[in-house]
Amino acid sequence: MTAGVVETVAALRERLDRSRGAGISIGLVPTMGALHAGHTALIERARRECGCVVVTIFVNPLQFDREDDLRRYPRTLEADLDTCRSLDVDVVFAPRDDEMYPSPPACTVRVDRLADHLCGRHRPGHFEGVATVVLKLLQIAQPQRAYFGEKDAQQTAIIRRVVRDFNVPVDIVEVPIVREPDGLAISSRNVHLSRGERRVAVSLYRVLCEVQRHIAAGRTDAAEVRRQAAACLPADDGLRLEYLELVDPGNMQPVERITGPVRVAGALWVGATRLIDNLLCKPPG
Ligand code: PAF
Repeated sequence: MTAGVVETVAALRERLDRSRGAGISIGLVPTMGALHAGHTALIERARRECGCVVVTIFVNPLQFDREDDLRRYPRTLEADLDTCRSLDVDVVFAPRDDEMYPSPPACTVRVDRLADHLCGRHRPGHFEGVATVVLKLLQIAQPQRAYFGEKDAQQTAIIRRVVRDFNVPVDIVEVPIVREPDGLAISSRNVHLSRGERRVAVSLYRVLCEVQRHIAAGRTDAAEVRRQAAACLPADDGLRLEYLELVDPGNMQPVERITGPVRVAGALWVGATRLIDNLLCKPPG
């Protein structure tokens, strides 16, 4: 890493102005830290495509709907900096809360419709917090490209819409989900799982695969497909399926009849840990 950690907006702008002045393209990878293989995939892609890679590490309080989730969120700055160094990241932006929010924001970004279902329905205010902080980060860094994971497909769809509605000149790049060998999507929250919970956590992926299998076999009734797939969840007191929905991959609205590609998305509570995952499903033909 050529430059170390930058903690202020002014210092980041100054550093990136120099790159821009030299005609170097900037790639932004917004994260909340606790970097894992999913983030590595984002950073590696940015490294291949951009001259200057900026990783932001900021646990954004505005997007947490539960105080305990914010408190419990893993914070591993030293290890994250080592990861960034090993991946040849140029700049890490790790601001304090009061640098990003010197006072409670009077303006926030609320996204209609796209945020109405899936996680948006179950985490009030979450996507407003995400859209607000991402718009701020895009304004601060002014990158050519910004990288997000397909695991948060609803988040990426919302960010694409924010960029469109506010005319932000950036390409949003979505990077495929990275999975453990058994299929569990890699997430910062997986560290909270006990050994027993880790074993059953893969059930979410299995349910999504079951949906994918039904759709590939030509089933078209979304409610019926959901019901049958959800029945595959093992009977375990620690598991609670928060939602399982089939949505249009573009506008994230629920579909009733499957006539084209759909995204199946689910959230599963495994003990006190909430996991999300999704898969793109295509009907035959
Ligand atoms: O996906 C995340 O880690 C966060 O929602 C993001 C995009 C960094 C905004 O805080």
